[in-house]
Amino acid sequence: MVSEREYDIILWGASGFTGRLVAEYFLSQYKDQDLKWAMAGRNQQKLEEVRSSISGDHIPIVIADSMDSASLDAMTQSAKVICTTVGPYAKFGSKLVASCIAHKTDYCDLTGEVQWMRRMIDKHHAEATASGVRIVHTCGFDSVPSDMGVYFLQQEIKKDKGVYAEHVKMRVKAMKGGMSGGTYASLSNVMEEASKDKSIYKILFDPYGLNPTDSPKGEDKPDLAKVLYEEESKSWIAPFIMAGINTKVVRRSHALSGYPYGASFKYDEAMMTGGGFSGRAKGLMTAGVMGIMMAGKPGSLLKKVTDKVLPDPGEGPNKQERENGFYNLKLFATLPDGSQVQGRVTGDKDPGYGSTSKMLGEAAVCLARDKDQCPDVAGMLTPSTAMGDAYLARLQNHAGLSFNYFK
Ligand SMILES: NC(=O)c1ccc[n+]([C@@H]2O[C@H](COP(=O)([O-])OP(=O)(O)OC[C@H]3O[C@@H](n4cnc5c(N)ncnc54)[C@H](OP(=O)(O)O)[C@@H]3O)[C@@H](O)[C@H]2O)c1
Repeated sequence: MVSEREYDIILWGASGFTGRLVAEYFLSQYKDQDLKWAMAGRNQQKLEEVRSSISGDHIPIVIADSMDSASLDAMTQSAKVICTTVGPYAKFGSKLVASCIAHKTDYCDLTGEVQWMRRMIDKHHAEATASGVRIVHTCGFDSVPSDMGVYFLQQEIKKDKGVYAEHVKMRVKAMKGGMSGGTYASLSNVMEEASKDKSIYKILFDPYGLNPTDSPKGEDKPDLAKVLYEEESKSWIAPFIMAGINTKVVRRSHALSGYPYGASFKYDEAMMTGGGFSGRAKGLMTAGVMGIMMAGKPGSLLKKVTDKVLPDPGEGPNKQERENGFYNLKLFATLPDGSQVQGRVTGDKDPGYGSTSKMLGEAAVCLARDKDQCPDVAGMLTPSTAMGDAYLARLQNHAGLSFNYFK
């Protein structure tokens, strides 16, 4: 049990683009409730400016720099939960994870950096499990809708049909949003690390790259890398940029839960781009844009051009773009007898920031407040394995997500 701490939650990275949105969310959603939280970062003046711009002058400020272990330890000891938006996580996050485990502080973040998660799992899973600490990566658009969507759908199918689906396909039907400089910096850092250490590609291309070491592998293949027509969704489908993270997280959840859906459970993700000639053309364009973003090697002209075009750290989609954003994800499930059912996950606001800031905020509150309703587990976890039904309820009641099952 976590002893009495000064704060329920410390939000580290509150001066950044996404951190500021999470701070605004806590202020609006938990204004009249007894949530003890603080804004943290490395720069007092910047934090004060953000705090005053969001009319949160009563919110305490905590200073902690990723390079200063003592400041991290002081921070992690004073909170039940650290909620961090300081990225790239591979550059700035490792000492924080270690400090949280050392001081028995639960943790959630927004990382999508698979190579870093692998390192953290290998280094800390046993220790975090033994210490009873819950470290939860990927509490944003990657990978909450996928991970919680599969968790939700499988429970509904089990209740309705008495079995679990043996294959689930997530298809992005529609989404609208933009990218922040912090996300681009994190993506660039993955490619930079991979260009220096080729073993990282092995992790990125291994469908089971986040599974427990030596755990049995299933039948999943690497993520879709081409454009093809799919009967089931009656649409052309194209690679989805987040699939490389989400599919691994869903498979880790399955492994950590003891393989309830069976050893041959399969999961994949793709984007639906519509039917006919225009669907195919849109698919090819989607694949092309993704290819360009991934192909820009550090120092290359292509990388210099994308660096110029995409936002700098601290920048991202404006309020109107966030408010007008949304996502609609379809889930196609095949049961052991070959019959099919569908599910759907939707979110209001843009996926990457408007919705992500609410998903992360609710993950932090869930870890801080709902421990009794969460699964009794610890270690390097995923959203569904760490928080299960308690988080599902919060996402639907507070964070603008909906989960549907269609028989
Ligand atoms: N999974 C998802 O769906 C999702 C969605 C959105 C974002 N993200 C991830 O979230 C992270 C943040 O994105 P963002 O756009 O908010 O980035 P950002 O605007 O660049 O913010 C980064 C934050 O990190 C802080 N920081 C940098 N170096 C630090 C250090 N040495 N010590 C302490 N704090 C430090 C910055 O503080 P200063 O203000 O002092 O510079 C700032 O508060 C990225 O890794 C991004 O990929 C993921």
